[in-house]
Amino acid sequence: MNPLISILIENIKLPFRYLKLALVVTDYFYDFLRYFNYSKTIETRKSKEINIAKILELCHSIEKGLVLKNTKIGFGQSKINRLINLLEKHIYQYGFDYYSHLALKVLSDYIEFNRTNNLEVDFFQKNLERLNSLDSGKKYIDFYRGAVLTINRCEIMNSLNKSFPDLVKSRHSIRDFCHKDVDIEKINNAISLAQRTPSSCNRQSARVHVFKEKTDKLKLLELQRGASGFAEEIPLLLVVTTDLSCWDNRNERNQGFIDGGMFSMSLIYALHSYGLATCPLNLAFEKERDISFRVAAKIPDSESLIVMIATGEIPESFKVAQSQRRRLEEIIFFH
Ligand SMILES: Cc1cc2nc3c(=O)[nH]c(=O)nc-3n(C[C@H](O)[C@H](O)[C@H](O)COP(=O)(O)O)c2cc1C
Repeated sequence: MNPLISILIENIKLPFRYLKLALVVTDYFYDFLRYFNYSKTIETRKSKEINIAKILELCHSIEKGLVLKNTKIGFGQSKINRLINLLEKHIYQYGFDYYSHLALKVLSDYIEFNRTNNLEVDFFQKNLERLNSLDSGKKYIDFYRGAVLTINRCEIMNSLNKSFPDLVKSRHSIRDFCHKDVDIEKINNAISLAQRTPSSCNRQSARVHVFKEKTDKLKLLELQRGASGFAEEIPLLLVVTTDLSCWDNRNERNQGFIDGGMFSMSLIYALHSYGLATCPLNLAFEKERDISFRVAAKIPDSESLIVMIATGEIPESFKVAQSQRRRLEEIIFFH
């Protein structure tokens, strides 16, 4: 075709492309409505699912407090009070279930830690006993191994050359690292392995930004806010992003998060397979923090943030949060 004609056709098409893309606003509004209707943002909304998510979240933040190297005595009392109130209502409304049992076990470990450190725990203990007495069925006895698991480096290393299930089961979010520089060769190898991740039409939108300098890391971690108590310890930070240039049209508006998320999980397993400790750190920001983080990290505007991964050599012995999983039958739906 004559190049002039093809330029003309291209230019005629252009306004239609803009119009098509402008309709993405309706898609974002659709996303917004679904988020508004079903997320737990609106405090007055009540459902069993919302309760369970809140219980899991509170339990996890208590477990996380218990695994830190310098756990503060009496930390998180307002969260404990929230958990007690929530449990009371949950048990009253839905009966004593797996999650009530889990939460009371976490509460019990919290009380034990504080009692051992000579903190007055009578109020929490009374509530624990009262809530435990509501467990009439006593069905959930064996599943819980404690809020905190202590693991040795050699247990992890021994699992690495075994089967995939062994590798998966030996991975934990580790919030404690060796004070040793990370071998960058391992990072390159892990990223290269993560490149084997499938991606939509093989567009491979994931990018990894690596931060080694202490001041850079602390600046990013301060903005991130999810690593208090172990931020200073982190030897290396990886920020995974998705390049928006790879995506097209209305339907792919969220595709980068899938691509980037899948890549990130592969990267976490790859780092683990090279014997490195990892902890994913969310980059779920409101607009203002997203911009501040992007500026601080010098990440191009064309990339969207996926997740940050703290990594470093595994210490000889360390504690991890139990992070009890939901029951299989609750998450599988055969159609
Ligand atoms: C997207 C994402 C964001 C996370 N953000 C944080 C965080 O900010 N701080 C933290 O300590 N852990 C964070 N985690 C780790 C989770 O708490 C952890 O994966 C979960 O409790 C399951 O435990 P496990 O990784 O040990 O199996 C994050 C995990 C994911 C997947």
